[in-house]
Amino acid sequence: MSDEPGRRRPPPDPPEPRDEIRHAARAFLWLMRLSDPRPAIPFMAMPAIVRVHLVERLALGPDDHVLDLGCGDGATLIELATRSGCRGTGLERDPARLAEARAAVTQAPVEPGQITLIEGDFEDEASLDRLPWAGITVALMFLYPWAVGLLVPRLAERLSPEARVVSYTFADTHFAEGRREMVPGFAYPGHRVPLYVWPVAELRDAARVGAAEPA
Ligand SMILES: C[S@@+](CC[C@H](N)C(=O)[O-])C[C@H]1O[C@@H](n2cnc3c(N)ncnc32)[C@H](O)[C@@H]1O
Repeated sequence: MSDEPGRRRPPPDPPEPRDEIRHAARAFLWLMRLSDPRPAIPFMAMPAIVRVHLVERLALGPDDHVLDLGCGDGATLIELATRSGCRGTGLERDPARLAEARAAVTQAPVEPGQITLIEGDFEDEASLDRLPWAGITVALMFLYPWAVGLLVPRLAERLSPEARVVSYTFADTHFAEGRREMVPGFAYPGHRVPLYVWPVAELRDAARVGAAEPA
């Protein structure tokens, strides 16, 4: 272990220009999939600068437990855990990404058991039932809008009212109002995208209001 959990780390170095072009092309293809009604969600890394921002914006600390739904290569959870000392649980469907995440966690300056990685599908109730809902303080998504729409009601039902649901870039339209902040995007330098931070209690109220409205 080379770092103490919770100790501040400097922001990461900016990428090389050629990497940025390659990355912009991948990001463009990622966004192109949105023309499908319900596209499969491939891996796209959250920018390192946004991970750093999340630690401060959410005031994460050792008492927090972040759930990353579609955790990819685990880099977001690792960054949050090493910077804040929080615990992390990642759910990921792609076994190759999960293997990368497991390897990265073993190399990361985190305590044994600080990050737990689970193979599963967030569309599947049995996978959701395996998650440690009682301890989660933040549920994080970097997913397409259909998946945010699917997950928000399930998260609001399972999380404690004090927890927060966070979505980077996309929102379910029912819950988009009033909770939008702009943060650095993932596609090209200067790109900005929304970040949504919803208290669970508010999502539950919104769901109740929605349920009362005539169809
Ligand atoms: C845009 S990446 C986000 C990665 C990571 N959360 C981050 O912020 O860097 C979305 C991830 O969700 C995963 N994913 C897509 N559909 C999923 C599903 N139904 N269940 C679990 N994971 C899924 C993908 O394999 C991919 O790794």
